[in-house]
Amino acid sequence: YDYDLLVVGSANADLVIGVERRPAAGETVLGSDLAVHPGGKGANQAVAAARLGARTALLARVGDDAYGRLLLDSQRAAGVDTVGVLVGGAPTGVALITVDPSGDNSIVVSPGANGRLTPQDVRTAASLFQASRVVSAQLEIPLETVEETVRSLAPGSRFVLNPSPPRPLPTSLLAACDPLIVNEHEAKVLLGDTTVGDDPAHWARLLLARGPRSVVVTLGAEGALVASAQGVTHVPAVPVDAVDTTGAGDAFTAALAWRLGQGDELADAAAFAARVGAVAVTRAGAQDSYPTAAEVAAPGSGTEGPGGE
Ligand code: RIB
Ligand code: NA
Repeated sequence: YDYDLLVVGSANADLVIGVERRPAAGETVLGSDLAVHPGGKGANQAVAAARLGARTALLARVGDDAYGRLLLDSQRAAGVDTVGVLVGGAPTGVALITVDPSGDNSIVVSPGANGRLTPQDVRTAASLFQASRVVSAQLEIPLETVEETVRSLAPGSRFVLNPSPPRPLPTSLLAACDPLIVNEHEAKVLLGDTTVGDDPAHWARLLLARGPRSVVVTLGAEGALVASAQGVTHVPAVPVDAVDTTGAGDAFTAALAWRLGQGDELADAAAFAARVGAVAVTRAGAQDSYPTAAEVAAPGSGTEGPGGE
């Protein structure tokens, strides 16, 4: 394989304002100076993997505009192969983000060019799929494009999906996931939140019964659960002081996908991914906050030691 990871997904300019609290309907609040960061769940995953040392390619679409160039520059600076990044057709995707004092965010996305990444674009990139050990996707691009991604996998390559933002998924897509990676909100949407109760291990088993070969439920400060035919295992969190959680889940997914392709067991890959995500939440922005492999291991990164317990 030429690539450890091929990411098929979105690229957004993140327009970020820090707020004391979010406005209610009809209300105006004043916030911080505007920060513009490269983001988007697909572009974030690609940068996160490349910074860790993975040979990474991105299949995405940006506009022929300044934000598109910001995103291409960020990918190239991280060492991502951008041969699969298509330009034009609509403005670059934009995410309007507020970050509160606890580091939590609220996001509205205008998909723009991401919405024009088509199944035909996936078919045109067939050679990238043949060259990729692991392929990951999210749901900020059309669902039919994600379905074509699954149909395009090379024999023996592995598919990882973070269904974010969540929506009900076809059985054929669920069956391809190894793993399906969800947070609590995504798990509840996929399962139908009125009936599932509060036990994440129960959610993990219910999701596994929908067909994925494995499931990861991320639980923020509580760590993560990994579930497969071998059972359900808890992976502890790495305690940190959150500055900005934006994109930490994307870094987690990318790190996990890369380590799985390198032969790690699911629980080991998730433990490494939790350390990567922990570094990301201690810094502002999404891609701008992602660590190198050396930073994940280094004393002072806040992630050394056994972590969480
Ligand atoms: O997952 C974080 C990302 O979600 C942000 O970078 C923003 O672009 C939205 O897509
Ligand atoms: Na961050």
